[in-house]
Amino acid sequence: MIENSMFEEEPDVLDLAKETPAYPLDPDDMVYEPRSSRLLVRGLGENDMDEEEEDYESSARLLGMSFMNRSSSLRPSASPYARQEQSSSCTMPSNRTLLLGVFVLVVVASVAMVIYFLPKCTLTKEGCHTVNTSMELIYPRATNGELFPWTSLRLPVYVQPVHYDLLIHPNLTTMTFQGTVSITIDVLNDTKNVILHSSGLQITNVTVQDKEVKKLEYQPWQQIALKFPEDLKKGQTYVLTMEYSANLSNSYSGFYNSSYVDKGGNKRVLAATQFEPLAARKAFPCFDEPALKATFLIKIKRETGYISLSNMPKVLLTVLNAVLDEFEKSVRMSTYLVAFIVANFTQINQIASDTLVSVYAVPDKVDQLDYALGCAVKLLKFYNTLFGIKFPLKKLDLVAIPDFLAGAMENWGLITFRERTLLVGNHSSLMDKQVVASVIAHELAHQWFGNLVTMKWWNDLWLNEGFATYMEYTSVEKVFPELEIGNDFLSMRFKSLAEDSLNSSRPISTEVATPEQVEEMFDSVSYEKGASTLLMLSSTLTEEKFYKGVSEYLEKYRNMNTDNEDLWNSFPQEEYNVVDMMNTWTLQKGFPLVTVNRTGAQVSVSQEHFLLKVNKTAKSSDLWHIPLTYVNDSCSTSPNCTQLFLLKDKTATFKVPKNVKWMKFNFRNNGFYIVNYGEEGWRALIEAVKENHEVLTPEDRASLINNLFALSRLGKLSFKQVMNLLVYLEHENHTAPLTEALYQLDRIYRLLDKRQDLLASSMKNYILNLFVDKMNSQSWEQDLPLSKQELRSALLEVACRYGQKNCTDRAEHVFLQWVASNGTERIPGDLMKVVFSVGAQSNAGWEMLLQTYTHSIVDADRRKMLAALASSQDVRKVLLQESLQGSYVKTQELPLILHTVCRNFAGHLYAWDFVKENWGKITQKFPIGSFAIQDIIMSTTSYFSTERLLWEVENFFRSRRDKSSKMRCVHEAMETIALNIQWMDSNLETLRKNL
Ligand code: BES
Ligand code: ZN
Repeated sequence: MIENSMFEEEPDVLDLAKETPAYPLDPDDMVYEPRSSRLLVRGLGENDMDEEEEDYESSARLLGMSFMNRSSSLRPSASPYARQEQSSSCTMPSNRTLLLGVFVLVVVASVAMVIYFLPKCTLTKEGCHTVNTSMELIYPRATNGELFPWTSLRLPVYVQPVHYDLLIHPNLTTMTFQGTVSITIDVLNDTKNVILHSSGLQITNVTVQDKEVKKLEYQPWQQIALKFPEDLKKGQTYVLTMEYSANLSNSYSGFYNSSYVDKGGNKRVLAATQFEPLAARKAFPCFDEPALKATFLIKIKRETGYISLSNMPKVLLTVLNAVLDEFEKSVRMSTYLVAFIVANFTQINQIASDTLVSVYAVPDKVDQLDYALGCAVKLLKFYNTLFGIKFPLKKLDLVAIPDFLAGAMENWGLITFRERTLLVGNHSSLMDKQVVASVIAHELAHQWFGNLVTMKWWNDLWLNEGFATYMEYTSVEKVFPELEIGNDFLSMRFKSLAEDSLNSSRPISTEVATPEQVEEMFDSVSYEKGASTLLMLSSTLTEEKFYKGVSEYLEKYRNMNTDNEDLWNSFPQEEYNVVDMMNTWTLQKGFPLVTVNRTGAQVSVSQEHFLLKVNKTAKSSDLWHIPLTYVNDSCSTSPNCTQLFLLKDKTATFKVPKNVKWMKFNFRNNGFYIVNYGEEGWRALIEAVKENHEVLTPEDRASLINNLFALSRLGKLSFKQVMNLLVYLEHENHTAPLTEALYQLDRIYRLLDKRQDLLASSMKNYILNLFVDKMNSQSWEQDLPLSKQELRSALLEVACRYGQKNCTDRAEHVFLQWVASNGTERIPGDLMKVVFSVGAQSNAGWEMLLQTYTHSIVDADRRKMLAALASSQDVRKVLLQESLQGSYVKTQELPLILHTVCRNFAGHLYAWDFVKENWGKITQKFPIGSFAIQDIIMSTTSYFSTERLLWEVENFFRSRRDKSSKMRCVHEAMETIALNIQWMDSNLETLRKNL
């Protein structure tokens, strides 16, 4: 048992971040101001002062009492995580203390007087600048040394952009671009300054109504200020014009360059944008906040031989020395949704409900576009009807970009994708198609949730991402039933529950200010918990009422911005108080554990926070409004069987017929909670399932398995009780329960394996025994329905990774046939990864795969080859360096490679060393806080389970000079390791006895 209290004792990472300076001021920019240095350090502006925040504790945190700043002299042997003793004893002060106290008082009083009588002055490196008002004392220094007239990361509200005219000219030879932007603004209050965003742009000329204007820049906040000699007047409209130039970015955001090698071996270049969340400012000066919507008229200059695309249809083409494309004026939209591309792509298209839908890719891959086009057309029609609002643009482009970091991006009318998420070959498996369909479903849903109606600020990002994720699953379920997405939705909910059971989790709506915090919002809470809570609401209200509310919400707020309450208020409040209910799910972190106790007809239920605790004393008195659904032995598999009880208090009771034998709560796991049935309840349920598992739906069986494992992690049940239920798996053949059991057991195996614990092999044998018949009976040739493919690939991936001979022999056989056919023999898509991974273990196999990888143009297959190459037990071959350099493996694949390398014992420490050694380069490519960084940190550390490694991880991030130590995922990583250690301490003995 480790004595680790950091997760309860330390401030929540997000609270902590709130209280640190929004952007620590660069020493060079700092105004050394004697009176309110705290304000200065915190970067607070006049509007941001909050009395409640001004407590001693927060300054103490700033002064380094957070664990991130603790002395690095701590060593593991000295238990770096031991609670720091707090002396609370009350004793009489000694004379020396009294004297010291008087001295301190005198010093404080003198300093106060000096400050009071000093001429008002701001000390900078250059000396004392006399300034007029006290507010200016906290202004930062602009690049040219003058005071920058704004002190907040958020832009002032009294200047509103109305329209942008943007002309962009990328030069794909010099990899630079030039731009001119004219922004029409409405002024709501008299002001001499206009503050807006700009990052990395050389602005050469600024005029307003044709008069030149002075510009100041404050780089840390990516802001510029235009200063006017006289007030801009309230109620007036002005036009700001700026000329500028910049380099096309080498990262994945802003206006960036991308390239690929065509069939003829020639390198081709292109330029594309990725603005969400904060990168529109890297392509043109703008008011880069989601609520500052405006219209855009975009013109692009390009060389012949390329095409250009933007959000709107093209209206004009002028040929001078280059070509000038002009696009229609856009609808009112947020800056992060603006997009443009200059490339030599080809396309296919089709009309769907008056919108011309086109899909684009590099010319060599044009025959991989059919599936995506079909999906987009079907889904567009589906959403038009479902939401009752027609997609407002006349065209919709979906474009696969060779270098792309996210999965896809919902730019209005110009959705961009990774090649992997848009393109599928003729022979691609249903699993590959499922990826394409669901990514399109997600991004198309954003055209309503996010584009038409946008969150006011990034704290409510979940309104975009949670909704799009919910729609992704529910629309694919309806429109493409053959893709059997239900299992994936269910396992996504299990994953989300697991992540939200940590103390380092956060509420769905979370305050954010800094760019890193905004990046961090793209996490499993916004996406997966967001989608899970929407599912809970829709199954409580009924789907019909849910979509009615949704349509009303979209109609009421179209072209506007919203927050949580606006959404909840759009649902009928009579039957359930939706606002109160949903606030309990979105404004507090975590979820409830419901404990059920039944004596005859009387059922008592109680709730508590399901919190995996590193320190057992952590307390939470949070309550949720839980729509508690249940079925019982008399009727259990149809939705009509379900009863609903709304549990709002800590405890409640209700009645059921006396003769009920067992009850299953949380029907199909549609609710976001875990249930403990108590000794008797579990016994009855397990017996029933063992007797005939079909008394419950497959989702409910998977739910029981998931809840048992969760309760054993919480220490409420022993691992033996889990094993007791798993016996029934012999009769199970549905994907959801089997893959859930396999995932949970394999997780434990991997933890043991990474410690080189002797129990690992017993665990492996236990798992193999449990699943051996199912593993051996899988076919290796046939195409199967999708859920059978998912089961087959999960079973065989584990079997072959465990070295089960039957599996490795069969895989090797298929691999050799594939090699003999020179890579032309078809392997079912779901089996490719396992076959290639076995093949990659020999030198010749690895070489052959690398060859094929470099030449193949089917990206879905290439990723499977890459994962296989990275699964090599020889760490010299795992391609980490190659990917970081972006040579023949693109840098965007680094998270995938790390993920794969960490699965092996051989690779996992190597991967962690690699991350540590290359942290600087990694964070240059992937922004701090971004999903890629979260993924890299979690996949390299989440299977650690020793004090030594916990210490290493903490120490590594603590000593970074960047902002990485503030990331929530760093806390999550450390908490996960500490919990792993704790789990080992309390379960190894049981495992030893029972395996
Ligand atoms: N809006 C996001 C893209 C994005 C992600 C922008 C992170 C900025 C930061 C897009 O809608 C999205 O969610 N993409 C997903 C894929 C999707 C199918 C779940 C992604 O990139 O992972
Ligand atoms: Zn999204």
